[in-house]
Amino acid sequence: MKQQVEVKPRDGFTTGLGVIAATLGSAIGLGNIWKFPSLTGTNGGAAFLILYLACTLLVGLPVMISELSLGRRARANAVSTFQTLAPREPWWLVGASGALAAFLILAFYTEVAAWVFAYIFKAGLGALNSTSPVIISQAFTNLVSDPVQSLLWQWGVLIFIAVIIIAGVSKGIEATTKRLMPALFIILLVVIVRSVTLPGAGEGLSFLFRPDFSKVTWATVLVAMGLSFFKLSVGMGTMITYGSYFRSEQNIPWTAARVMLGDVLVSVLAGIAIFPAVFAFGFQPDAGASLLFITIPAVFSAMPLGQVFMVLFFILAAIAATGAMLSLLEVPVAFLSEKLAWSRLVSTTVTTVILVGFGSLAALSGSVLADFKPFGMTMFDLYDFTTSNILLPLGGLFICLFVGWRWARNEAVATLSNDGMLRNERIVRLFLGTVKFVTPVLVFVVLLNGLGVIKL
Ligand code: TRP
Repeated sequence: MKQQVEVKPRDGFTTGLGVIAATLGSAIGLGNIWKFPSLTGTNGGAAFLILYLACTLLVGLPVMISELSLGRRARANAVSTFQTLAPREPWWLVGASGALAAFLILAFYTEVAAWVFAYIFKAGLGALNSTSPVIISQAFTNLVSDPVQSLLWQWGVLIFIAVIIIAGVSKGIEATTKRLMPALFIILLVVIVRSVTLPGAGEGLSFLFRPDFSKVTWATVLVAMGLSFFKLSVGMGTMITYGSYFRSEQNIPWTAARVMLGDVLVSVLAGIAIFPAVFAFGFQPDAGASLLFITIPAVFSAMPLGQVFMVLFFILAAIAATGAMLSLLEVPVAFLSEKLAWSRLVSTTVTTVILVGFGSLAALSGSVLADFKPFGMTMFDLYDFTTSNILLPLGGLFICLFVGWRWARNEAVATLSNDGMLRNERIVRLFLGTVKFVTPVLVFVVLLNGLGVIKL
């Protein structure tokens, strides 16, 4: 034993329900309510949905099970997990690049969350009560192009998340997500009922469910795969970190499958809530990132008591974003507090200060930095593109290679079956075959073609 002094027992999730709430809370986020509808809208509706579902099953889910298993086996942060399971080999770089990805994702994610939080107040004050696209677009533009508002809302969001993270894994993350998750489902259902009963709603539903593959290119497939990583919070060590907090008796494959199903359900429900309304109000489905911030207020403005529902809806979007941001921030915080033996307070403060730096570049992308475009994209778009379309797939690829080819098979089997307690030999065999031969090949081919490196 290297370490003589025993430190405090490691914090973790305390109940099965807490595990689900936190993990589902990480998966469900702005990805469902903002990214999924806007990408589906710009990439041809149902055809994109089908690609995304295929990627979720063949890529996202296997990577999620891999990450959770590694984390629970090593009971450590994303970097130390690889150092524990493969000492003196460079695999820890996968964890390190994941910690970097956490900063890049949070940089733009906290800004979208900032708009959501700002909208709660704008809606409450009645500033969004209009069914006119022009007026609501104007309100959104005013927010995005104001550097002071953009920065202050983002910093507010960061502080809010930091406070919960400082409280710890069970008292912060678990306690928060357990309270917030159920409410999200209820309000989503309320919005759907309103949306699908609007006159002209059918057009939106057929857009979402009738595929047109003529728009699909390799770049589209890469976007769908990137979304499947982003949605399940995989490819960068979030699920390694959360897996390290799982209880020993938690059934990993079954937990991952349930989280995946819950997450897909929320995305499809969000699509059903949004697209019928888009078409009913004569908006275009390909508005991209602003879909959530222009269409949704219009939907609510059209219904009785709309303002109340509008406030509620953005509170719920904020709830979704909160669980996701907690899981992102936890990655560098767990790393710093375990590696450098810093307290959570110090680790979180340092991380948050660095994030203010990265994040400000995204926050100012709509105003003073609007013309700063390295690689032809604003910093906001660059953070978004490089993480989903490069870093997460690369991270996922190496995680699969590790679990499929480097990790001893009996270790993997023991972790996935809780040392033989679970009778799931067939599922484990199916999973191991997939991470060995199917997922890495798919990720590799889609990545290279999507980026235009090779042409199939
Ligand atoms: N899954 C979240 C969403 O859809 C975002 C998220 C949280 C994430 N943690 C992550 C994305 C880790 C990639 C990696 O909103």
